[in-house]
This record gives sequence, structure tokens and C-alpha cells, in this order.
Amino acid sequence: MKTLTSEEINNIRSSVDIVSVVMRYIPLTKKGKNYFGVCPFHEDSDPSLSVSPEKQIFSCFSCHTAGNVFNFIMEYEHVSFIEAVRIVANIAGIEVAIADYKKDNVYQKEIHDIYDISLKFYTNNINTSLGIEAKNYLIKRGLTDELIKKFEIGLAIKSTDTLSKLLEKKQFKDNDLINSGLVIKDEKGFHDFFYHRIMFPLHDINNKVVGYSARAYYDTDGPKYINSKEHLLFKKGEFLYNYANSKEACRSQNTVILMEGFMDVIRAYSIGISNVVATLGTAFTHQHANLIKRLANNVIICYDGDDPGAKASIACSNELIKVGIIPKIVRLEDNLDPDDYILKNGQAKFNEKISNPLNVMDFKLSFFKKNIDLTQATDKAKYATMMLEELNKIDDDILKEITLKKLSNEIDLDVEFLKSKLIKKQPTVNKKVMTVVTSKYDMAQEALLFYMLKSGEVIKIFDNQALYFPNKEYRLLAHEISYFYKTYNYINVADFLTDLDLDMSKIVGYVISLNLQEEYTLQLIEDYIKAINEKNIEDECERLSKKLQEETDIEQKEIIGQRIIELLVRGEKDV
Ligand code: UTP
Ligand code: MN
Repeated sequence: MKTLTSEEINNIRSSVDIVSVVMRYIPLTKKGKNYFGVCPFHEDSDPSLSVSPEKQIFSCFSCHTAGNVFNFIMEYEHVSFIEAVRIVANIAGIEVAIADYKKDNVYQKEIHDIYDISLKFYTNNINTSLGIEAKNYLIKRGLTDELIKKFEIGLAIKSTDTLSKLLEKKQFKDNDLINSGLVIKDEKGFHDFFYHRIMFPLHDINNKVVGYSARAYYDTDGPKYINSKEHLLFKKGEFLYNYANSKEACRSQNTVILMEGFMDVIRAYSIGISNVVATLGTAFTHQHANLIKRLANNVIICYDGDDPGAKASIACSNELIKVGIIPKIVRLEDNLDPDDYILKNGQAKFNEKISNPLNVMDFKLSFFKKNIDLTQATDKAKYATMMLEELNKIDDDILKEITLKKLSNEIDLDVEFLKSKLIKKQPTVNKKVMTVVTSKYDMAQEALLFYMLKSGEVIKIFDNQALYFPNKEYRLLAHEISYFYKTYNYINVADFLTDLDLDMSKIVGYVISLNLQEEYTLQLIEDYIKAINEKNIEDECERLSKKLQEETDIEQKEIIGQRIIELLVRGEKDV
């Protein structure tokens, strides 16, 4: 199999119409030249997503996600670039045998290969005579052969170098072996990091194994689970167990159930609940929240029933609220985790729990009331203050009102009084309109980028003048555009987007959605450049003035002063 060239990739891209591809996922309606729909990449009910058949790109004027057809599929399906190319090729009916793509760097490929081999090794072990004990342990816990296969559960045998030997034979680089975390090196050579443990593979969002959680299945003083150490492709704070596997179910039910441990997920799956993911018992991060947001709008937190589980539910809720999700909470009795709860109380009882979650504010009311004596005025005040703080975090006015009423009843304080203590929110201007006031200089940079994305002529002007964009993101983007043009000798937004990361595509999305006239004059371009230079001079003068103030040496002071004057004169001439 071969590696695709940029040209071939662009051919695949241009053999489909982005409008019809996007329509496979969301309904679009035509308005003027473009098509509009509800953006699937942020919470919205208005049609902020526009798709341009002419430019073959989509962009959302609310969340600024933007890109070509590949970017759309990557975002929507949560697949890698190469997977998106495959999907598009498939839609176009083009047969491509893609082994890998130049963007899949060598390091990633090596690590993936190492993990693929380890997975084969571990999953095979468990079905051999060496795996009888481990298998018995799993069966005793109620895991069937089918589940073991589905979750690719394996075994690291007692020997401490079998996997290392196997990997060494395949001629991987020493560094890659060590980086993978599966192998350790000492004076005597390579050893297996994991041995005598049941191996639960950890799949990333593209369903590639990038780590393991290894459980002891014999009496031991060691930790219950040992996890792969973090590496470039495996970060616990960005990892959710069962993410790829649960994607379809989460999307179709528009709900994600979140648990603490992967045994909980496997148990839930065994009773037909497949829209479940788990953190690996670590703190729930902002990245986790964003990943979850890509799956569904509704989240049910079903953490362990103990006190740490309750605390973690609060922390997790707050992260989710920050990304605009108001979660629901399930609390399990008797300190049980979902796994034990299901085993003890059965499927029906658990389903009932999941179907009747608490709203997050009710949960907070009960949580913060725990060590509070409501007959004491100081306790009441403390409780009210804590709850007001929680209420300030949410945007949902109705939920706020309902909670305030409950709080008011509990502590016997007037609702209106409590409400007056909430932070007043600024009246929100129409969400779709960018509320940031764009400065003249930002505007000039954005406009210049807008025309650079259209015209080689403008890119050449940028290059010839060695223009410096004051804003870092814009500067990087300008250089990307210039680089693309130098490499391929043309510019086209849809093709250009192929090479960009998501953050950069968002800036492009923002820039191309600016309401500027399509045609430009050289005079106009000159004016933008002048404005940008003016800003550069201003920044430099400011920097030098600060330096001047701090400088104690008279001679140095004079040099700096002279430099400022020169700059000011240049500025006068330029403007
Ligand atoms: P739990 O202690 O709740 O594990 O930790 P569990 O899911 O109930 O596992 P079993 O039922 O005893 O087998 C929740 C998660 O925290 C991580 C694991 O990822 C686990 O799924 N953990 C736990 C560790 O990484 N190391 C440990 O020693 C314990
Ligand atoms: Mn458990």
C-alpha cells in the first residue's frame, strides 16, 4: 500500500460536493448562495452553520468551527484525518488503498504497531493454559467469554520478558519501545513493564489501543490496578474508557452516562447499556468535558455511591457546566459502585436509577446540606452562600428559579432577597453577533488574511514586505498561507484547510465569514498594511518607553530616546 500525495487527497476532496456530504448528517436549507443548518459542534438551535458549495467549505458563525469536507467528517465522526479521507473516498466511490498518510508521523505509527503486537500477545495468553487462573477470576466476576472478547481483555503472564523479546525481534527503535511504556530497560536489558496481571486495553477516540490498565488477580500487596504511564498518545486527563465504542449509542440517545471505573462500564454494557464512558478514577478535566460534549448534549453522572464519589460528582458537574452541559446525577445506595450495584440489585433496579436521575441543583442542595444544622443561623447563612455560588455557575434561568424556591423554603428566606444576592448577568446580546469589539488593527489583519486566502497576489505582497502581524495567531496563519502557496503554487481555502489543525481552522472559519467585499484593490491592501505597521510601531514605542523609564544609564537613555523619535518619524511618514 502506498502513501497518498496531497494532490490525490485534494482529488478525493473535490470529487464530492460538501453540501451533499454534510446533508447526510444534518438537514440543510438553501438561502442565497449558501446552505444553512444547525451546527452540530456546539449547543444551538439556530442555523448558524453555513456550507458553501462554491468554496466547498463549512463554517459556523457562532462557534467558528470551520473546514472542508474532511474536517467536517473528522469533527462529526471523531475520526483521524486519514479515516476521514477514507470515508469521503468511499462516498465518492473511489477505491483507495491507504496504508498511512504522511501526516501520521513515524512515531505514532511505531507506537501503534507496538501496541497492536502487545494486544495480540495479551489476548492470546488468556486463552492458553497459562490463562486459566486469570480466566477463572474474570468468570467469577461474571464476565463472559463474549465480554472478554468484546473488550479485548488479555493477560500479561508471569514471565517478565516475553513481550520484550517479541518486540525486540521486530526491530523497533529502543526509544519507541521504552516510550510505549510496555518495556523497561535496565543494565540487563529489556523487561516487560506488566506481568502477572489481567490486561484491560485502553482505546483512544479512534479505537486504537494506547495503554493498559492492569489488574492484579491474586492476593497481593501491590496496587489493585497498574496503569500504563502517560506518553504522547496517552494522557489520563484526556482519556475516556469506551469512548470510541460508545459513540454510536451516545449519539443516537443524545446521552452519555459517565462512570468512574472501567469495570463499571463493562458491567453496564453487559446489561445492554452501551452509552457509557469512564474516566480512569482520575479527576474529571476540562478536556474530558469537551470530549463528552462531542458525543451528546445530555450527561448522567453515575459515580461510586461513596463520599468521594459524591465529591467527584460535584467537581465533574462543574467542569461540564463550564462547557455548557447541565448534567444529571445518579447516586447509588450503600456506597456501591455501578458494577456492584448491578450485581447486587439487578438490571431492572439499575435501569430505574438511570431513568430517574437527580437534576444537578437538587443534588447540590442535598450535598451542601450534609453537615449543616439548619436550626443555626450561621449554618443557614453558610449554606445559602454556597448554594448562591453554585447558582451563579449556571445559565439556565428556569432551573435557577426552581432551585431558589427550594432553597428559600429550606432556610426560610425570601426568594426575592436571595435572588438579589445572585450576580446579575449582563444582558446577552444576540449570541450570533461577535460581541468583541474589534480594533482597527485586528480588523486590518483579518481583512488581509481574508484576501490572502483568495489571492496569490496578496500573498506575494505579504512575502515581499516581510509583514509582521502583531497578533500571534494571525501571524502563524499568515505564514501557513504563505507556505501553502510556496509549496503548491495556488491558494484555495478548501485545500488549504486539509493541512490545518482545528484551532487554526477555526480562525480561518472566522476570517472567511467576515462580511468583506469579494474584490479588493491594491490601494485597499496598502491601507491594511499601513494600519498593521502603525500598530507595530506603536507596540515598539511602548516597549521602548517602558525600557526608557527603567533604564538608569544616561547614555543608554539617549540611545533609546533617539530610537523612539526615529520610529515616530517613520510612523508619520508611513501614515
Ligand atoms: P475503583 O477502585 O472504583 O475500581 O477505581 P473498580 O472499578 O471498582 O475496580 P474493581 O471492581 O475493584 O476491579 C476506579 C478506577 O480507578 C482506577 C481504575 O481505572 C479504575 O477503573 N484505579 C483504581 C487505578 O488506576 N488504580 C488503582 O489502584 C485503583
Ligand atoms: Mn468495583
